[in-house]
Amino acid sequence: MLPALYVVVLVCLCGLAAGASHIPAYASLAGRSDEEIALFMRNHPTPGAQPPPPPIKDTSSKLVNDRLHPWLPLLPGQIRGVCPGLNTLASHGWLPRSGVATPGQIVTAVQEGFNMGSDLAQIVTYAAMLVDGNHLTNLLSIGAKSRLTGPDPPQPALVGGLNTHGVFEGDASLTRGDAFFGDNHSFNESLFDEIVATSQQFGGGKYNLTVAAEVRFNRLVASEQSNPEFFFGFPRFGTAYAEAAFPLTFFIGGPAEDNVPTNLNASLDLDVMKGFFRDSRMPKNFHRREGPLGLDIIGGALGFLSDAHPFPPGFNTGAGNYTIDQRAVDILTGNAEIDLLCALYLTFVNTTIELYPRPTGLLRKSIAVNLHNLYLPLVAVNDSAGCPEQFPFGKF
Ligand code: HEM
Repeated sequence: MLPALYVVVLVCLCGLAAGASHIPAYASLAGRSDEEIALFMRNHPTPGAQPPPPPIKDTSSKLVNDRLHPWLPLLPGQIRGVCPGLNTLASHGWLPRSGVATPGQIVTAVQEGFNMGSDLAQIVTYAAMLVDGNHLTNLLSIGAKSRLTGPDPPQPALVGGLNTHGVFEGDASLTRGDAFFGDNHSFNESLFDEIVATSQQFGGGKYNLTVAAEVRFNRLVASEQSNPEFFFGFPRFGTAYAEAAFPLTFFIGGPAEDNVPTNLNASLDLDVMKGFFRDSRMPKNFHRREGPLGLDIIGGALGFLSDAHPFPPGFNTGAGNYTIDQRAVDILTGNAEIDLLCALYLTFVNTTIELYPRPTGLLRKSIAVNLHNLYLPLVAVNDSAGCPEQFPFGKF
């Protein structure tokens, strides 16, 4: 007979091994114990974080729904999530069709498929990688749960992937519900119907900048009125406006004048829009936009949308009980020592520290490298004295 202590130890080790071996290669390691991480490293290749790829050279408009990138229906186990842009790139094979990719693959694919500027691509991708990705395998899921993910890990561990609520994904999305109500990642037909109705009222039946401002505002008001946990501080404040402009800047495609973000005449056909949002599908003959759209020009669209219907950053404590975040207001109105981009950077730095309070070895180094990757495009548009780089995980 085995001594009782031996049995207890054996049971614990088996439980630990089973738990850690359930962690998919793309899942976040936030909240995992040192033992789970060590076991994970024994079971997976761990290249760690890598430097970002160089910007693409040819940024002309070109056919991207081409013979080499046909739309294909989803196979079991393939992951899609909250972002119609990334979903579409995966369903056309510009990203791995599995829905799991390296940040480098994402940075290149959003440039190749949509001509997103490399600086914007890097900021968005490395922000997501820091809070939702696996720093050891260097993989990020563009959704999250699938049958490959297995059972959810116990708190505070995260399943990871872009669907994870609160670190990047947020409330008042255009076509996805709030996490508080259950499903924060599936296409929601009723929400799209609201976009259709608003487009009929303000856009002659198409989605344009005026419609985007109305839809953006209506979704904020609806969440503020109904969601007791509604959150509209950083980073959500920045991403919510950008995402309302993205259909115009990236889903129209073709000549530059048709999709500059402040062109009030730029309009998107609603069937085409639904194709991207619901089916992850480019229209036939889709050409990506002419020329990259990066940090230097997206600001105009964001300003238009937020000026049309100001909605100050803040959060609910109970449905309809909204508190304005004064610090965030000061940043937006230029009354703070940092600007919006820097505030977004610092938010992701702080969230990463909360998720990984004491990482060691390769994990620590990889987080440090990914933080640096996030900072790189920021220095180009921001003077580094106004937004000094942070090194909470050391310099590598
Ligand atoms: C560069 C890497 C990208 C990452 C990491 C990313 C990530 C995300 C995430 C996490 C959301 C959910 C936010 C929320 O509503 O709660 C989102 C939404 C969205 N993304 Fe992306 N995205 C990327 C690129 C793109 C591109 C290239 C496009 C357009 C071509 C795009 C279009 C959109 C749109 C339109 C939404 C709003 C969906 C809705 O509110 O229903 N994204 N993205």
